[in-house]
Formats: sequence, C-alpha cells, structure tokens
Amino acid sequence: MISTLKSESMGSTRSLPDSLIKDQWPTALAPMQDVTGLPFMKVIARRGAPDFFFTEFFRVHAHSKIDEEILSSITQNPTEQPVFAQLIGENIEDLRRTVRDFQNYPIAGIDLNLGCPAPRVFKKNVGGGLLRSPKQILSILKMLRQEVGCLLTVKMRIGFEDDRFFDELLEAINETKVDLLSLHARTVLGGYRSMPSYSHVAKAVGGVHCPVLLNGNVTSFHSAFDLKELTGAHGVMIGRSAIRNPWIFRQVREMQAKRSVFQPTLGDVYEYIEDLYNTLEKPGIDERKNVGRMKKFLNFVGLSIDAEGKFLHQMRRTQTKKELFSVCEKHLSKEGQSDMYFNSEPFEGLVARPSSESGYSECKLS
Ligand SMILES: Cc1cc2nc3c(=O)[nH]c(=O)nc-3n(C[C@H](O)[C@H](O)[C@H](O)COP(=O)(O)O)c2cc1C
Repeated sequence: MISTLKSESMGSTRSLPDSLIKDQWPTALAPMQDVTGLPFMKVIARRGAPDFFFTEFFRVHAHSKIDEEILSSITQNPTEQPVFAQLIGENIEDLRRTVRDFQNYPIAGIDLNLGCPAPRVFKKNVGGGLLRSPKQILSILKMLRQEVGCLLTVKMRIGFEDDRFFDELLEAINETKVDLLSLHARTVLGGYRSMPSYSHVAKAVGGVHCPVLLNGNVTSFHSAFDLKELTGAHGVMIGRSAIRNPWIFRQVREMQAKRSVFQPTLGDVYEYIEDLYNTLEKPGIDERKNVGRMKKFLNFVGLSIDAEGKFLHQMRRTQTKKELFSVCEKHLSKEGQSDMYFNSEPFEGLVARPSSESGYSECKLS
C-alpha cells in the first residue's frame, strides 16, 4: 500500500515522490563494492529487479573524478528502476563539486555512505568513521540538502563503536530533510557478523520523518516480511542474500501480491552462475582472474547449495573456468539434481570466506 511508504512519526509526514512509489512496500539492492556494478544489475534484473538500486560508492577527495566504470551503472542502467549515486567522503567542498557534476546524469538521488567499516577508510574519517563526528555529518548534510536537486538519502550504521550519537544522527536527518534512510543495524566495529540490532531500526522508524529501509541479514523473502513487521520499517535493503539468491526481490513481490512464490531449483542456480560468468567476464583478462572474481559471488551462493559445504570447499580450489563449471555441474546439474529446490536460507554453520565478506572493508579509498 502506498501509505506504508510514508513515515508518520514525530507529528510530520514525509514520503518519497510519486515516481518512486509503487503499490507495495519497496525493496532495494544494497550497494556492494566490486559486486553491484552494471553486470550484476543486468543479472539481477533478469531475475526480478528491486525497486531501487544504489551504486557502489564513488570516492570523493581533493583529486577525485567520477569513476567511469561505476558511472556506467547509471548511464547504462539496464532496468526501469531508479539508481542512487552513493558518495563516500568528508570534505564539504569536494562533495559539493562532485554533487554538481552528478547533476548531469540521470540519478534518482545522492546517497551518503556513513557505514564503510574498513579501517583504511574510517581512519580518514569517511564512511563509518564519520559516525564519530555527528556535527560534521550535520554540516555535510546541510550542504548536500542545498546542492542536491533530486533526492538526498543516507545509508548508515547505528554508530561507530556504540550508539552514543544515534539520537543526534536521527535529528540531523530530520533537520536536513533527508528523503530516505537505509539503516544497517550494526555498529561499524560490529563488521558483518555481529547480531544486528533491529530495535535501532524500530527506533529510527519512530524517530525520523522519512521512510526507513531496514538493512542487515535479511536472508530470505520470509525474513524480509518478518523483520519488516518486527521493526515497522518501510521497506528492506538486501545485500549478500541477493548475491546468494538473485530471485529474492521477485519472491518478495510475489509474496506481497499473494501469488505463489517462485522457488528456484539447483538447475536455476546453475543457469544463474553461467549467466553471471558470461556477464561478468572481461575479455582479454586472464581466465584465473575471471574465475577469482566469480568466487567472490559463489562464496555466497554456496551457502545454500549443500549443508556440508562441499560445493564451497571444491569451488574455492578451482583455477580455470572448466574446473569451476565441473564443480558446478557436480553439485547442481547432475541427473536428478537439477530439479531439487535451492535452499531459501543459508545452511547453518557455513560462512562465506572472510575475505569475500570483508572485501569492501579492505578496499582502498584513494
Ligand atoms: C562485498 C561488500 C561490499 C560492500 N560495499 C558497500 C558499499 O560500497 N557501500 C555501502 O554503503 N555498503 C557496502 N556494503 C555493505 C552492504 O551494503 C550492506 O549494508 C551489508 O552487507 C549488510 O546487508 P546484508 O546483510 O543484506 O548483506 C558492502 C558489503 C559487502 C559484503
């Protein structure tokens, strides 16, 4: 329902513009560096796009220019859905210059990254590092509010090491009339595996005037509904589980429409992996690099393939495309297998390689 997109808190109501309002509550693909670029958007769109996309972050510093490769996910957006350009930076003048440059491109809005947990990043006081300086965040948001002609959105964690500034951050969001808040329900030091604090999402829903997207461990369409219900969030943002299960947005839609929900089989997963390889493959690049890139995705897909983690174990040892696909065939497309259902949740006890989960946290900033 349209009303579910509206935030009715603290006596005032703000909602997204009609162009972004759908009949049902919204889903978004979480920005993931080195993952959610144009090729992955194409692959996801073929299986059911979310309502909103956010780009991987654009670094903003004294000498930064808009990154062409990331920009292609805006200029060549293969879907009908809006794309928000995510920025990571702290210098007001550099951010102003970048936002002005972005006015030439078909973006739905500008999203400020207040969550990146990489030590190299937060030591520069950007991303999650900024959460230690709520006054600086307020100054940045004030400038962005003035400059951004389209929507202004924020993606943040609940705090740096704890939630001591959480209320102040929510106030800054209200004061600067931010249009949408995506809240990753962990602290920066909580990384990717700490227990998400959904009570903070509920608090944000009650405390800000804009819609809130809940983010953090939405692992299936069932958990999307349960967590939305638990927190009162206006929608959900899904990251790693959309790599594992690219049908997740379609499944949420079908569940919302009370239609039968598509259940992918292992054969569908095999096709997804083939599609991903062909779409991600960069011609002229060493095959092992293409395989290495694929492993980053398959570390998540493998969490739902077999409970013992055999697929993960064997896949991680492959070097060539042939080896990789022979492991995929063994686990996904042998006689009698391809019709079996793909597990909708990750199997308990399996974890994606730490290096793949923290890829973003190890990224260089400039
Ligand atoms: C590989 C990877 C890259 C990420 N890159 C970004 C990024 O560029 N910007 C951002 O705001 N968050 C980034 N994140 C965080 C996700 O957007 C999301 O907040 C986090 O994964 C929690 O959601 P999930 O449990 O649905 O995965 C990244 C996460 C991962 C795993």
